[in-house]
Amino acid sequence: MRIVLLGAPGAGKGTQCKRIVAEYGLLHLSSGDILRQERAAGSELGKKAQSYMDSGALVPDEIIVEMMSGAISKAPQTGFVLDGFPRTVNQATELDKSLACSRQKIDVVLNLKIDDRKVAQRITGRRSCPQCGSVYHIENLKPEVEGICNNDGTRLIKRPDDSAEVVANRLKSYHQQTEPLVDYYKNNNTVYDIDAGRDADEISALLFEKLNTLVKV
Ligand code: AP5
Ligand code: MG
Repeated sequence: MRIVLLGAPGAGKGTQCKRIVAEYGLLHLSSGDILRQERAAGSELGKKAQSYMDSGALVPDEIIVEMMSGAISKAPQTGFVLDGFPRTVNQATELDKSLACSRQKIDVVLNLKIDDRKVAQRITGRRSCPQCGSVYHIENLKPEVEGICNNDGTRLIKRPDDSAEVVANRLKSYHQQTEPLVDYYKNNNTVYDIDAGRDADEISALLFEKLNTLVKV
């Protein structure tokens, strides 16, 4: 199964992707997590992406498409779930072209819809594991031990692009460049709109219900 998860910053893409991969045995490919790993490793790619990420702008398409094509080509036969990619219509067309070369396509698009006003509360309280990418919230989704990742015991961090000013720019980029993708996919693929303002467990249950219909086909 090949899934794209769309949604604004803070919509819960990372949170729900972790649950989807655990349930269906897929590979989680988060463009944001891969970029952060490249930055931590001090690679050329990480250096090129740095200023865009810090300001809340999108990293240029050619950098992202090359990076994600490489990651997707190594995915197992069971499939993958894409988190944060594609993010422009151009990225989506490039993805479709490269999948078509191996007679593949995106099976389903899950569109997490959230009000901008909810995004700030979610993002300012987020804490992330720099090691495994697990995501928590200081009020909504707490780790078992404060400040420590449940999964691997790493100390949790606040992402540097989670300041109010950068979040405003990330939302602007989302509305201008990523939202048009919903219509692109509605013309060619199955798209499910999901109310992402709800409780995380309720959202997972809804997503699993949709995905189970595909698994059974
Ligand atoms: P990226 O890392 O993808 O960031 P983003 O899209 O801004 O999304 P977030 O990771 O902030 O939010 P999320 O939807 O994953 O929410 P989460 O589950 O963490 O990208 C970062 C940057 O990289 C971009 O700005 C850009 O520069 C660059 N980039 C990446 N991909 C690119 C691309 N394709 N093209 C160009 N540039 C690219 O949840 C948020 C918080 O809410 C957490 O604290 C969580 O615990 C909590 N929470 C989650 N669900 C719920 C719920 N239902 N109820 C209450 N709390 C919840
Ligand atoms: Mg994320």
